[in-house]
Amino acid sequence: RRSVKYISTGVKALDELLGGGIETRAITELVGEFGVGKTQLCHQLAVMVQLPEDKGGLRGKALYVDTENTFRPERVVQIAKYRGLDPQEALRNILYARAYNSDHQMIIVDEAKKIIDSEGIRLIVIDSLVAHFRAEYPGRENLAERQQKLNHFIGQLLRIADLYNIAVVFTNQVIAQPDVFFGNPQKPAGGNVVAHGATYRLWLRKSKENTRIAKIFDSPMHPEKEALFRIAEEGLLD
Ligand code: GTP
Ligand code: MG
Repeated sequence: RRSVKYISTGVKALDELLGGGIETRAITELVGEFGVGKTQLCHQLAVMVQLPEDKGGLRGKALYVDTENTFRPERVVQIAKYRGLDPQEALRNILYARAYNSDHQMIIVDEAKKIIDSEGIRLIVIDSLVAHFRAEYPGRENLAERQQKLNHFIGQLLRIADLYNIAVVFTNQVIAQPDVFFGNPQKPAGGNVVAHGATYRLWLRKSKENTRIAKIFDSPMHPEKEALFRIAEEGLLD
């Protein structure tokens, strides 16, 4: 596709796995169990996007939509320092929005359209995509409405990514499948709506200590390769 660009994750192995990094005009999903590093990667990308193109960035700002109150400015400072950026400037280049419920989450993104070009936003982070929706529309009786709203929101994200040539990254939770006896006992939340909405789906899992393993799933275009990285003081590293 014409004019697609990439934001480096800051991890060579992960960039290679993704075919160059996080793509613009696309939605990349980060899924995995608690503590696996989804939020850490979001922080890292919000810094990486600010770097000049020869260092893997797009010299752009990030819009960070935080639904779980897990954004940590001090973490941005650590990562920015390691990447050679002024920490305070790096923080200013992350437009932070706390989303208090699913409607608010959708309004933030809708309103953001007005400032994407003027502010130079090249990355939108939604951490997490599904948490509010799952809390507000629990159980089977609300499933149809929840999925319909989620579908609307993902459609909105995809249009924005395409129209403004920016990258969209969202995190997703895993849910246990107690009724399966073989294969993967976990699956991503959000069902078909999220599965079809995400352009790239990155599954993260824990390995020893701070080591993590990433794999692209649900993609016929990507080989069943894996990438290793670790979470350190300086952020995510090879
Ligand atoms: P949920 O949102 O709960 O689903 O998890 P998550 O996937 O977002 O996990 P998160 O990104 O919050 O990762 C937390 C993990 O990152 C911790 O368990 C630590 O292993 C690691 N981590 C966070 N900060 C640091 C740090 O400053 N140094 C190091 N070495 N590791 C860190
Ligand atoms: Mg998190």
